[in-house]
Amino acid sequence: MTMNLLILGGTLEARALCARVAELGLTATLSLAGRVARPKASALPVRSGGFGGVAGLRSYLVAEKISHVIDATHPFAAQMSRHAIIACAETGVPLLALTRAPWQAVSGDHWVHVPDMEGAVAALDRPPLRVMLAVGRMHLAEFARQPQHHYLLRLVDPPDRPLPLPHADVIVDRGPFDVEADTRLMQEHGIQMVVSKNAGGTGAVAKITAARQLGLPVVMIDRPALPQRREVYDVEAALDWLHTGTDLGV
Ligand SMILES: NC(=O)c1ccc[n+]([C@@H]2O[C@H](COP(=O)([O-])OP(=O)(O)OC[C@H]3O[C@@H](n4cnc5c(N)ncnc54)[C@H](OP(=O)(O)O)[C@@H]3O)[C@@H](O)[C@H]2O)c1
Repeated sequence: MTMNLLILGGTLEARALCARVAELGLTATLSLAGRVARPKASALPVRSGGFGGVAGLRSYLVAEKISHVIDATHPFAAQMSRHAIIACAETGVPLLALTRAPWQAVSGDHWVHVPDMEGAVAALDRPPLRVMLAVGRMHLAEFARQPQHHYLLRLVDPPDRPLPLPHADVIVDRGPFDVEADTRLMQEHGIQMVVSKNAGGTGAVAKITAARQLGLPVVMIDRPALPQRREVYDVEAALDWLHTGTDLGV
C-alpha cells in the first residue's frame, strides 16, 4: 500500500510534523476542525471540518485510501482522539498519537487540581477575584455560574457573540507565548488566580511559569482519560514510526 498519511491537527506539534512531512515529500493531508477563522498556512494540503463521527471518519479513511493516521490534536480534544482510535481499529489503519507529557508542579507552584471543567467552575465558588481564564472560547459559558469574578480571556479569534461573563477583558492573540510578556500581562491586569487546562508542551506554558514567579494559585484542569493507544512525544519519533514501526499496529 502506498503511503497516504492523515494528520489530525490543530496544535503546534501538528504544524511541526506537517513541515517535516512536506520536507520529506510524503503524501499527506492535514485535517483541522475548522474552528479558527484564519488558520496558519500549512505546508500540506488541508481539509477542514468534522468527519461526521466515527462512521464519517471510517468512510473517509476508506474513500481516501489512508494508509496511516497520526493524531496530533490537543490533549483536550478527547472526542476526536476517541473517534480516531475506534475508526482506525475498525479499518485496520495504523494510528499513532503525537502528544505531549502533562505539566508537573514544581517547587513554588500552588496548583489546585480539578478533574474537569466542571471542577474548575466549582473551584471558583468564592468571593470575587481577578482571574486569568485560559480554557478556550468553547468553555466560557460554563463559567457564567461564577459571574462575580473579573475574567481575563485570551482568545485566538475575536468573540463573535456577546460574552457570557459580565466582567471580562479579552485579548486576541495566539501562542506560542513567552514568560516575560505573560508576567507583565498578569501584573497589568492585577491577576490573582489562573485557570488552565493541563495542556503540556511549550506553546502555552508561559502563563504557568509566570504564575509561579508571581506566587499565584493555578486551578489546573487534569486531562481527559483516553483508551490505550501508541504515543510519542516528538516529531522525529513519529517519522520513525511511519518508516519502521507501523507493522506493530495500534
Ligand atoms: N480542546 C482544546 O483545549 C484545544 C486547544 C487547542 C487546540 N485545539 C484543537 O482544536 C480542534 C478541536 O478541538 P475540540 O476540543 O473541539 O476537539 P473534540 O471535542 O475532540 O472534537 C469535537 C469534534 O470536532 C471535530 N474535530 C476535532 N478535531 C478535528 C480535526 N483535527 N479534524 C477534523 N475534525 C475535528 C470532530 O468532529 P466529527 O465528530 O464530526 O468528526 C470531533 O468529534 C482540535 O484539532 C484540537 O487539536 C483544541
